[in-house]
Amino acid sequence: MDMCGIVGYIGKQNDPRIGLEALKRLEYRGYDSSGIALFDDEKNAIFAEKAVGKISELEKKVPWDAIRGSCLILQTRWATHGAPSAKNAHPHIDCKRNIYLVHNGIIENYKPLKEKLLRKGHIFRSETDTEVLPHLIEEYAAQYTLEEAVRRALQLVKGTYGIAVISKKDPHKIVAARMASPLLIGVGNDEYMVASDPSAVLAHTNRVVYLEDGDIAVLTKSGFRIADLNRKAQERQAHEVEWGLEEAQKGGYAHFMLKEIYEQPEAIENSIRGRLIQDEGMARLGGLEPVKARLREIDKVRIIACGTAYHAGLVGKYMLEEYAGIPVEVDFASEFRYRKPILDKNTLAVFISQSGETADTIAALREAKEKGALCIGIVNTVGSSIARDTHAGVYNHAGPEIGVASTKAFTSQLTVLALLTLYLGRPRGMSYVFGERIAKEIVRLPQFARLILRQNNQIKKIALKYKDYANFLFLGRKYNYPIALEGALKLKEISYAHAEGLSAGEIKHGSLALIDKNFPTVAIAMKDSVYEKMLSNIEEIKARGGPVIAITTTGNKKIEGVADDVIYVPKTLEMLSPIISTIPLQLLAYHIAALRGCDVDKPRNLAKSVTVE
Ligand code: G6P
Repeated sequence: MDMCGIVGYIGKQNDPRIGLEALKRLEYRGYDSSGIALFDDEKNAIFAEKAVGKISELEKKVPWDAIRGSCLILQTRWATHGAPSAKNAHPHIDCKRNIYLVHNGIIENYKPLKEKLLRKGHIFRSETDTEVLPHLIEEYAAQYTLEEAVRRALQLVKGTYGIAVISKKDPHKIVAARMASPLLIGVGNDEYMVASDPSAVLAHTNRVVYLEDGDIAVLTKSGFRIADLNRKAQERQAHEVEWGLEEAQKGGYAHFMLKEIYEQPEAIENSIRGRLIQDEGMARLGGLEPVKARLREIDKVRIIACGTAYHAGLVGKYMLEEYAGIPVEVDFASEFRYRKPILDKNTLAVFISQSGETADTIAALREAKEKGALCIGIVNTVGSSIARDTHAGVYNHAGPEIGVASTKAFTSQLTVLALLTLYLGRPRGMSYVFGERIAKEIVRLPQFARLILRQNNQIKKIALKYKDYANFLFLGRKYNYPIALEGALKLKEISYAHAEGLSAGEIKHGSLALIDKNFPTVAIAMKDSVYEKMLSNIEEIKARGGPVIAITTTGNKKIEGVADDVIYVPKTLEMLSPIISTIPLQLLAYHIAALRGCDVDKPRNLAKSVTVE
């Protein structure tokens, strides 16, 4: 998961600024804190420093002219466990300050590992999941080489990691390992680098070796070798990276938005990771444990958010009312804070925010807290204002989102809301059978998302056909009504076409008057409880000459006789269908905007995080 950026360098140069420059190229991956560790040959010691904030803060703190070393590791962090702070910044170390490690990913079983290590007398200095790694390695370091100690530690670990490790006791090497987090080796002349993505190494070399899951690599000044967790040697081919720096940061995609659309299967997976007890049909939300008793007492829910997060909230209302049996109201933060909302101690106020810094949402949170409501957050940015100021919460773990138009944060918010529905619903009478069905289906969502992404070319063709229309209508019902709103928002914010999202039942009350051959409609018509109604609406539009693009369930070929263009989405539970039906709408908006030549990642007049009222 793109949550942090890590870099290592070993080679002929001994000015550590080489690592700093490489790290700066990874800053886009997140920058709540950063750190460096380097083996100083002259002093035969490891120098380490950490700083909170952007990499420039680290740059200010380190006495670059006074340190020398040709074996170093660095990290720029985007917090998932433990707030951004100097003690939680990487590198993390063992008790004796011999082993220094940087990590990108999540160690899922860190709690039991940490308890065990604490019982053995290890001293922990941070709140992170990562810190178990240097302590585990320490357990084996006296007896084995660094790579063997790392291997034995990793055999005990569950989760995702890209790591780079150095040790005072076994110097002149970097050990790197990968499991489901990106990591590559940059192959230069008498110099080698390890990095989360190619942009960090491009200034030195365009030859890279992508590590695979289970790979453990040892880099020295004269080369590198790779073996797997079972010590079997692995041959990996070098690739020539043909991307420029900016392209590399976008992973080869033309825009961050497209990259983030493609990251959704992983983002959804990361939102679910460790949170589903499938055979009990339950969700485990550690972040809500502290308020568990109060959650039992709540009799109504208020969801408060802005923009795309508000649309996620609307879907949440349908989920929570149908399956948890709790009345829910959804508000724009900017409305909530200026009216006189009625809340009390039995109200659960849920604040959804990607950035955790939206001014209106923060102000609404303050208001709800004053009125005594139990306030929880669904927030992507760890340690942000909303994450800190709520009583408890659930992090999205979707990774940093850079495109102004929210995509992976949205599907992740919906996924967390589905988990919350299980979490609140099961103790309130949702049957085991239902819980289990929902849980089983949630697990399949990443795969469904992948299937939709495969239709990208076909969606691009549809975009080409419709790109010059000035107006669009987006229609949906029930669970997919908010997706119609979100589809319209995506299109208008990045392509500047006018687009309106509506509940399909409402078109007769006004908007149908707009429809003619120049006014296309995007209709979300999944084969669900409101399908027949949607079909009638589509027919009403066709009868007025309006072109229709239908989003429907795979296999529903019949709709091709009614709609002009059809995009198919795999069948899933009605309550979960918004999580996947929204993806073709993101792609449609993206391609229309890109074909119109718009600045997709930075639409005019808009900001990623609206920190003013
Ligand atoms: C801005 C962004 C949107 C986002 C909204 C709420 O308008 O461009 O993508 O949905 O703010 O932001 P939040 O960070 O609170 O989710």
